[in-house]
Amino acid sequence: MADYSYISVTPASRNCGAFITGVDLKQPVSDAEVAEIHQALMQHQVIFFRNQDVSPQEQAAFGARFGRLRKARRAAFDTTDDAPEVSVIINDRENPPYIDHFHADGMFRAEPEFASLLKAESPPTLGGDTIFVSLTAAWRGLSDAMRGLLADKMGLYDFMRLHSSPEKARNWEGAARAGMLKTREENPPVQHPLIPVHPVTGEQALYFSESFTAAILGVTKYESEGLHAMLTRHCAKPEFQYRLNWHPGTIALWDNRSSLHYAVADYWPDTRIMHRLTIETDDIGLGRRAEAVG
Ligand code: SIN
Repeated sequence: MADYSYISVTPASRNCGAFITGVDLKQPVSDAEVAEIHQALMQHQVIFFRNQDVSPQEQAAFGARFGRLRKARRAAFDTTDDAPEVSVIINDRENPPYIDHFHADGMFRAEPEFASLLKAESPPTLGGDTIFVSLTAAWRGLSDAMRGLLADKMGLYDFMRLHSSPEKARNWEGAARAGMLKTREENPPVQHPLIPVHPVTGEQALYFSESFTAAILGVTKYESEGLHAMLTRHCAKPEFQYRLNWHPGTIALWDNRSSLHYAVADYWPDTRIMHRLTIETDDIGLGRRAEAVG
């Protein structure tokens, strides 16, 4: 069990997520606090803060303590002039919710992003939760026989597996089209280990999502399809999950190397507005590992 001196960490469930208290993200956060927040993220895969009424600039400043931020691109989501790194995700009567699928952000990239930082700006009064899945727990939850079969496999990850589906058709229309075309062009299908070793914790994870894993390599097409269906069902087991209910000012920070998420689309036609930030590099974790290696 990790020790914390500057923050309090309360597990949210047996296998996934923890709530962090004792820190005000509107105030300057010390290096020691940031280091412990990172430690809690490594331990729990996703961490939550309540009542943090931060502006887009403050959200970006907090995210930048962990690594390099990506500038938001207008494609699937809107952007804000207040902070170029913050995507504004607005779902309402005209824009029904459609992130109701398990995925990790950036799985389809050659270098997937480290983390995402999501703030509830205006959540619906009822519904609109996000379900998080620990991929380390999902890996441990497979039988020894299945772990033996999958341990050395590569996966094929493809942006278009999800984004060519009819549910995503409206992303290819209007102002968003150029951004989608550019993202597709920049991200041809890519291979990653299906069971990577986490670069900071050394733990193995089941790096799989129904949305972006297009195939499991090294087996036949039909075997891959069967494994895909089985892993989709396995990752959806409640034992590996925590379901977060959002309040205004709730923030979630998740590690895309060890977790999946699913935005529950049960609140339409009500409105849900979220601010999301992408942290590309894990500067703290990789710095700590470099020190350990010497
Ligand atoms: C996302 O999928 O990145 C956003 C999740 C959410 O809005 O709950």
